[in-house]
Amino acid sequence: MRLSPAHRTAPRRIAAAAIAAGAVLGLVGTSAGTAGAATPAHPGRPDKPIIGGTEKPVGAYPFMAALLAKGRGNPHDRQFCGGSLLEPGVVMTAAHCVVGEQPKQLETVVGRTVLSKKNQGHVRNVTDIVVHPRYARGQEAYDIAFLILDKPVTGTAPVNLPTAGTDALIRPGAKATVIGWGNTDTEVPNYPDRIRAVDVPIVSHIECKASYPGYDKKVNVCAGVEGKDSCQGDSGGPMFRKLPGRRGVYQVGIVSYGDGCAAQGAPGVYTYTGSAKLWDTLGESAQGRKVKRLLGR
Ligand code: ARG
Repeated sequence: MRLSPAHRTAPRRIAAAAIAAGAVLGLVGTSAGTAGAATPAHPGRPDKPIIGGTEKPVGAYPFMAALLAKGRGNPHDRQFCGGSLLEPGVVMTAAHCVVGEQPKQLETVVGRTVLSKKNQGHVRNVTDIVVHPRYARGQEAYDIAFLILDKPVTGTAPVNLPTAGTDALIRPGAKATVIGWGNTDTEVPNYPDRIRAVDVPIVSHIECKASYPGYDKKVNVCAGVEGKDSCQGDSGGPMFRKLPGRRGVYQVGIVSYGDGCAAQGAPGVYTYTGSAKLWDTLGESAQGRKVKRLLGR
């Protein structure tokens, strides 16, 4: 259901599907709540989006991936989440984007800027979906998953990850960039065809915990300010930093959830990709260990 184009205009269905998936797994309602928290906590309040961002030219982010529901329609209508190329054969995304889905139901395109331009980028089938074992067991954080591709994407530099456990890249106030095809309008759903980017400040763990009781500073990081945020449809996509004198970028976060979008006092919550605990606990499942080996971690 989450993969149907309808969710693009009705983000609340994402939550419904995720909660249903949680029920199937025998999880209690609240434990399946990551995606629920990601969608409006207050149905009456309009969702705001990548808000405050700008359009980006072709080739600006070659490691960026879009997750598409498989089908014949316009890819713009089939896009439901973002992702990033971690290795030639691995795309990283949010667990809530793909939990309970079958690999056959989706495809991914790496390096496309304008979703409807079918000749842009590298389209791949997915042979395996690996959800972080702690997310699969109903924890709210650990919103990360890996798509194993049928064929590697070569000739594209994957994104870099921070050294696990250093936290040097998430100093509060530091500027990061988040990109995606998510909603851009705070009043009505408006999903752009061309990728957008916005610069957001990293927010301290203390402030973030004040906004979100379920926030886990071991495996999450927050970013955003009133008017600048990711939003529905950006989930799974990367938040990254460019370091002076370094080629490429470092991905510090995966778009996970937020209370509305771009609202005052409600920054976006991201899975922190530099978390030592996140990578350690990935090894708690056989599939997770496989991914760790693939990534050399
Ligand atoms: N869960 C949303 C999605 O599925 C992303 C929400 C991000 N929200 C935010 N305020 N940053 O696309």
